[in-house]
Amino acid sequence: KRFWVVVPAAGSARRMGAAVPKQYLPLAGRTVIEWSLAPFLAHARTVAIVVVLAEQDQRWPQIAIAGDAKIATAIGGAERMDSVLAGLRALQDRAAPDDWVLVHDAARPCLSAGDLDRLLNELSNDDVGGLLAAPVVDTLKRADDGGRVLQTVPREKLWRALTPQMFRRDLLQRALQSAQAKGLAVTDEAQAIEALGLQPKLVAGDSDNVKITLPEDLPRAERILISRSA
Ligand code: C5P
Repeated sequence: KRFWVVVPAAGSARRMGAAVPKQYLPLAGRTVIEWSLAPFLAHARTVAIVVVLAEQDQRWPQIAIAGDAKIATAIGGAERMDSVLAGLRALQDRAAPDDWVLVHDAARPCLSAGDLDRLLNELSNDDVGGLLAAPVVDTLKRADDGGRVLQTVPREKLWRALTPQMFRRDLLQRALQSAQAKGLAVTDEAQAIEALGLQPKLVAGDSDNVKITLPEDLPRAERILISRSA
């Protein structure tokens, strides 16, 4: 079976408060998105990568790897789900219905080669597919709008969903289209699969696989990347 990659990079990143979209911010000598794509560019089993861009994106052509033969682009939509569907449509004529598609955030620059390999190996023969995830280590509180605690949410059996998330092309497309038709606001691919009554498999991944969301996430990602190359 072949592996394809969709990288949604069409978000506006309001929480960063930066003029430059977060995937184009500088990080350890490159841009965030170059780090996010690197493990897939280097991997022999991934056939092609579709990077899904915002319609008004003018920065991508300036990225060093933009011309790489393994990379194609598509134009994204208003929600992450719309962007992933656009990426899947770009693969429709190339990938078989039961080929695997890995969806990885452009804003996750610290995916390790080891985690990627483990995801591929553990799910390649799975009926449903799944995702990298990390167990929750903090005690969780649900709060009211005033920041007062309503209750403690038991962290037992709770996981944080990371990316890549890996599903068959046809199943993922049907799941996302169905979520869209139902008006379901899904924040990851697995949630759309769950809505079909299926149970994605969690593959324990490194909690260093951080998503750049807030400005303070950048120095942390930089430390992680630098410590790896040391
Ligand atoms: O906003 P958030 O951090 O959840 O975004 C995760 C990823 O999804 C980012 O790489 C972002 O660029 C992408 N995205 C997208 N299209 C959207 C919203 C988010 O491609 N409409």
